[in-house]
Amino acid sequence: MSIGKHASVPLVAVIASVVLLGCERPPPEVVQNGYRGLGMEQNYNPRLLEASIRKNIPPESIPAAAPGGPKVSDVYENVQVLSDLTVAEFTRLMVAVTTWVSPEQGCNYCHVPGNWASDDIYTKVVSRRMFEMTQQANSEWKDHVLVNGVGVTCYTCHRGNPVPEYVWVTDPGPGQPSGMKPTGQNYGSPTTAYSSLPYDPYTPFLDQANEIRVIGTSALPAGNMKSLKQAEWTYALMMQISDSLGVNCTFCHNTRSFFAWDQSTPQRTTAWYAIRHVREMNQEYIWPLNDVLPASRKGPYGDPMRVSCMTCHQGVYKPLYGAPMLKDYPSLAGPTKTEVSGTEEAAVEPVPVEAAAPAAVQQL
Ligand code: HEC
Ligand code: HEC
Ligand code: HEC
Ligand code: HEC
Repeated sequence: MSIGKHASVPLVAVIASVVLLGCERPPPEVVQNGYRGLGMEQNYNPRLLEASIRKNIPPESIPAAAPGGPKVSDVYENVQVLSDLTVAEFTRLMVAVTTWVSPEQGCNYCHVPGNWASDDIYTKVVSRRMFEMTQQANSEWKDHVLVNGVGVTCYTCHRGNPVPEYVWVTDPGPGQPSGMKPTGQNYGSPTTAYSSLPYDPYTPFLDQANEIRVIGTSALPAGNMKSLKQAEWTYALMMQISDSLGVNCTFCHNTRSFFAWDQSTPQRTTAWYAIRHVREMNQEYIWPLNDVLPASRKGPYGDPMRVSCMTCHQGVYKPLYGAPMLKDYPSLAGPTKTEVSGTEEAAVEPVPVEAAAPAAVQQL
């Protein structure tokens, strides 16, 4: 009868909703991060969130060193960056660094056995630069890494691995044997969440400083703003950034205007600094080390393994869910050495990667 027919409509709806809900169980948790009614919210699956929180628990801090005692520079021969620390604080830091970077290999991952002062092992030379890179992050990039007192230590990237789990090199692509001009896209890549967007947004945007903005401010589009292809490069980067932070676009943008800063969240401003910060780490710190790195630490183009958002964030909006590790290691908060004039090293020019700038970006 007709009653039965009507009754079946809500029933279908109930069954459908039960089936659909079953796709993701337990039901997602929603965190609102924009004004009400704008749909600016993040969805989290509680089960995956719990696993992620467990994976991002920082190691316990080593008890503080006793104050006072001799300075490193009075005791050791070849300490160039950490020379102002006391021997006690320096030793504590060496122990911490070993647990953060080479827990299985021990001190000798960076030291020639029996000769602490020797620089004959490349990992020590790399580490010295990494100390400077970390201090620079915490002192010069506070607008990114210290907004709420979190900060960076070696553990933020390394997590107990000599080479951080999430590093990247310029991607030569799938190498399809076809006469087609490579366009840098149309090949599902995990880098851009399996979209067919350009698969290497790292090289042009997180190493080189190509223009990210693609939305014009004038009636007639010009430059970056006139190219659909450019927009695809920007979207590829945005996919990678979202994935790295484990968030949606609405974490930073009000999607009614990706352009408008006054409708974006404060996190977008932090991300703006972050992009510049990552470029600096790659250009000023990682590239100059390329000469000392062995071939096994380089990509197909001979370029070094570099930093992206994922290297620190690892799928979380703040590395280690905002655990403030730095406060227990004040020697990493900024340069500790007293400047001695005339000993500045000559600046090393970064080497450009061959074919690094994808065609679309070069056409600017
Ligand atoms: C991840 C690399 C790394 C590990 C692991 C490491 N060190 Fe070091 N160590 C360095 C670097 C880099 C320097 C030089 C720092 C500088 O120039 O400011 C150094 C310097 C030293 C010096 C000063 C030597 C001198 O006379 O100049 C001593 C002593 C030392 N480390 C002891 C240790 C001990 C003990 C351990 C293990 C508990 C250890 N290190 C683990 C990287 C490391
Ligand atoms: C922003 C992320 C980041 C931070 C912070 C960081 N590193 Fe690294 N580290 C890297 C990357 C990327 C590489 C690979 C490139 C290279 O070897 O230059 C690397 C490589 C290394 C290597 C070479 C390992 C090998 O087997 O080739 C050592 C040793 C190292 N880091 C030590 C340190 C120490 C010590 C600290 C803290 C003072 C530190 N790193 C902080 C990103 C980081
Ligand atoms: C963590 C913050 C963050 C997330 C998440 C994010 N963006 Fe962005 N987006 C930015 C920043 C910062 C810029 C400006 C970069 C610059 O100018 O250097 C930007 C720029 C853009 C632009 C260019 C705007 C213009 O002025 O031309 C577009 C389009 C865009 N994003 C789209 C997206 C999309 C689509 C997503 C989701 C897939 C997304 N964004 C996720 C931070 C973010
Ligand atoms: C060297 C490690 C490191 C790298 C690499 C890194 N971040 Fe961060 N980022 C941090 C730390 C640490 C914080 C937390 C700062 C605080 O709250 O004190 C942070 C915070 C942020 C925040 C603010 C989150 C919030 O909830 O307020 C955004 C957005 C962000 N980073 C974006 C990025 C983007 C985009 C990239 C890549 C272009 C990037 N980060 C690369 C270390 C890093």
